[in-house]
Amino acid sequence: MSLLRVENLNKAYGSLVVTKDVNLEIAPGERHVIIGPNGAGKTSLIHQIGGQTRPDAGRILIDGVEVTRLDPERRAQAGLARTFQKNTLFQRLSVFENVRLGAQARFGSTFNLTTPARALPHINERTQAALTRMGLEKLAAETLANLSYGDQRQVEVAAALAGDPKLLLLDEPTSGLSPAETRAMIEVIKGLPRRMGLLVIEHDMEVVFSIADRITVLYYGAVLASGPPAEVAANARVREVYLGAGLADAAH
Ligand SMILES: Nc1ncnc2c1ncn2[C@@H]1O[C@H](COP(=O)(O)OP(=O)(O)O)[C@@H](O)[C@H]1O
Ligand SMILES: [Mg+2]
Repeated sequence: MSLLRVENLNKAYGSLVVTKDVNLEIAPGERHVIIGPNGAGKTSLIHQIGGQTRPDAGRILIDGVEVTRLDPERRAQAGLARTFQKNTLFQRLSVFENVRLGAQARFGSTFNLTTPARALPHINERTQAALTRMGLEKLAAETLANLSYGDQRQVEVAAALAGDPKLLLLDEPTSGLSPAETRAMIEVIKGLPRRMGLLVIEHDMEVVFSIADRITVLYYGAVLASGPPAEVAANARVREVYLGAGLADAAH
């Protein structure tokens, strides 16, 4: 069974079509990267998968469960976690508190009095594990606002990981990072547990080809090509869109 299945998805803002008959399938543990020019509809697609935006038509299934009309909270409980293109953390909270919110999104909140105590997993342990994986232990008590932008993006990934998602959506995880921070982020992504499916939007071709099992190219809201990296890099229409962008070079 597919981890993610997107069927004939369509979305328009007025006359602007941002998602055009998109079909997409991600197998369990697959690392799938979406590329495409600015304005191609990459973020809009992720918003529909995450539940931030409703599609006009089509279906979205996570692990066989239809989530098309579920809110983001219910999708998180179904095993979906995401980061945003723009930093969406709580600046006045500590690093630990920010990451713990990610664990609570999946495994229940302290305000949910109807959940029996024994059913509540160990939120703090999951928080700690995510901090350790991201190498953020030393910053755990720090107020988020005191961190560099690069460190804050790592906290965002840690918060998503704390929910131990089946599918993790990352929207341009390296945008705004220095070359050194970008390399660190690539290593983190590569080091994620293989059982975790990834859907990553990325524009840096070196990053794309170093993490992707499969690549989908979006162009004016539609899927231009989808397949293994070498196949997509060799696709004539893709090469036309990316002429001069170094796509073919990055593939080797
Ligand atoms: N809420 C919205 N209302 C109107 N237009 C939008 C909205 N969100 C995105 N768009 C437009 O949809 C197009 C696709 O945007 P987006 O999905 O962010 O592209 P990408 O992430 O590929 O750069 C862009 O032209 C953008 O301006
Ligand atoms: Mg975008």
